[in-house]
Amino acid sequence: MCGIVGYAGRSAAAPVLIESLKKLEYRGYDSAGITVLGSGIETYKAVGKIVNLESELPKNLGGTVGIGHTRWATHGRPNTVNAHPHNSGEKPEKISIVHNGIIENYMALKERLIGEGYKFKSETDTEVIAHLLHKHIYGKPDGKEAQCELLVGLREALKEIEGSYALGILSADEPGKLVLARKDSPLVIGIGKGENFAGSDVTAFLNHTRDVIFVNDFETAVLSPAGVEIFDRDGNLTENKIEKIEWDFEAAEKAGYEHFMLKEIHEQVTAIHDTLAGRVSELEGAIQLKELNLSEDEIKKLSRVQILACGTSWHAGLLGKYLFEQLAGIHCDIDICSEYRYRSPVMNEGTLAIAITQSGETADTIAAVREIMSYNCPTLAITNVVGSTITREANSVLYTRAGPEIGVAATKTFSTQLILLYLLAVKFALVRGKLSPDYVKGFITEIRKVPGEIQQILNQKEAIKECAENFARSKSYFFLGRHLNYPIALEGALKLKEISYVHAEGFAAGELKHGPIALLEEGSPVVAIATRGQTYEKMLSNIKEVKARDAIVIAVADSKDTEIEKYADFVLRVPQSGELLAPFLSVVVLQLLAYYTALARDCSIDKPRNLAKSVTVE
Ligand code: F6R
Repeated sequence: MCGIVGYAGRSAAAPVLIESLKKLEYRGYDSAGITVLGSGIETYKAVGKIVNLESELPKNLGGTVGIGHTRWATHGRPNTVNAHPHNSGEKPEKISIVHNGIIENYMALKERLIGEGYKFKSETDTEVIAHLLHKHIYGKPDGKEAQCELLVGLREALKEIEGSYALGILSADEPGKLVLARKDSPLVIGIGKGENFAGSDVTAFLNHTRDVIFVNDFETAVLSPAGVEIFDRDGNLTENKIEKIEWDFEAAEKAGYEHFMLKEIHEQVTAIHDTLAGRVSELEGAIQLKELNLSEDEIKKLSRVQILACGTSWHAGLLGKYLFEQLAGIHCDIDICSEYRYRSPVMNEGTLAIAITQSGETADTIAAVREIMSYNCPTLAITNVVGSTITREANSVLYTRAGPEIGVAATKTFSTQLILLYLLAVKFALVRGKLSPDYVKGFITEIRKVPGEIQQILNQKEAIKECAENFARSKSYFFLGRHLNYPIALEGALKLKEISYVHAEGFAAGELKHGPIALLEEGSPVVAIATRGQTYEKMLSNIKEVKARDAIVIAVADSKDTEIEKYADFVLRVPQSGELLAPFLSVVVLQLLAYYTALARDCSIDKPRNLAKSVTVE
């Protein structure tokens, strides 16, 4: 989740860009850079926080038009070469670009452009856009004469790009102009007096103006000191509404949400979309995990998967175990990392270790990975943080691409970890002949629907809020699930206890009668995840057991299930999605339930007591 900024005005651009970038630092900051149009394209970059970039800039840097970027790496390590802006054109450079988003077909475009003589410096997908745009305007790498205007060349280049982008672009041959484009990544324009601004969100320029225009998908825009022009995908001028932003800075940083956690729960819609981007092809029924250093032959020969993780990541892993065994027929074990290295594990040939850690820094997980690597196991890391410690230890790394998660409670990193586990299990199943290509096509169609289904839940979150408020003063909560919903029950309980400090326990529903049922009292809230599937009937029996003890049942159920109303006191609905993918939906309900309970109890939601975002001690 990078941040882009832009400025076209009459003051020096550099200080405005630096100020804007500092406001966007919360979107991630492994490196940053700016380009100003002075006597030509002048680009400056630095690793780390924006102050590092600021100290690199020459005093009195000229140029009143510029672009800037704060990077949170998705392709390529955090360093100055991979930092934006990316430029094209043999000296003097002609084009400079900043980008937020993911270009899905960048490898194919890159190979083509290399064949046409373009030289790439970075590992990023963005550099492809810079060269592609240059190609459309100047014809060849050393082309000096523009054959068309920047905006015309841009429109042509965008036709070839698959993926998401918010772009800020400068051309040495069109001084005084900042050009923008958007598809599936946020982009907003700030309207000033004799100066105009651009940013990934309004915080970038809120100190200068509150009059904004939200750019829509497929629109392009030209900003100059004198004004703003916006065009639709065919190049026709459009008239977008100017809106007034009333938020203060703190609210704007959270996009108007009261807490980062709530914002991040909502961001699951785009995060899942980004995690899937370029990795699934509905047409071919193919799952491409290019970062996985395992040949098809090695996948066929795997005898076991060993998952290692802690906390919420362990819950994702537990669901992964069900998937690897059920779909791919591979024996799968899962360990809590702090236990793994002290229990003298028995290792066998053909084991793939999968370490799951959103931060990539959890000391227990790193130690467990070092232990398993001493048995010469190939190791795959699933993480959200490019360049984190785990990425330097493991043989392969799959990034969740969820963007920075600021709330301590993991939400969007959990659901994107699940996405990767589903893709791995289905890919392994396909390679090992356990699933047919037709099944995989159907699966891809269904998993692509998940973001839209999550959005439907978010649109009805008031019902979850009401339910949470009803039980906010309860002493103890219980969460029950079976099969794929069992790890979700554990996760629901963990979310509730960590942010609302209410005692909560998650159980495999069938285990209730073996002990935990003794805890039930009249009025105890019991959340039963009862989406339709092979264990639905059994779940109904468990619900009846709970009701017989006068506890209160809050069921999470499919939208069309009328049966459940006979047994549950409250029903929280999720769209009818099928058994396999229902966990993505149930978990959002439980995240919201925890959030609204903590809100009603006036807890410190984003920074719960005694907890840290990454636990770097054993
Ligand atoms: C809960 C939570 C923790 C982490 C655990 C592992 O919301 O965030 O339980 O899941 O500390 O952290 P990572 O995934 O960074 O290894």
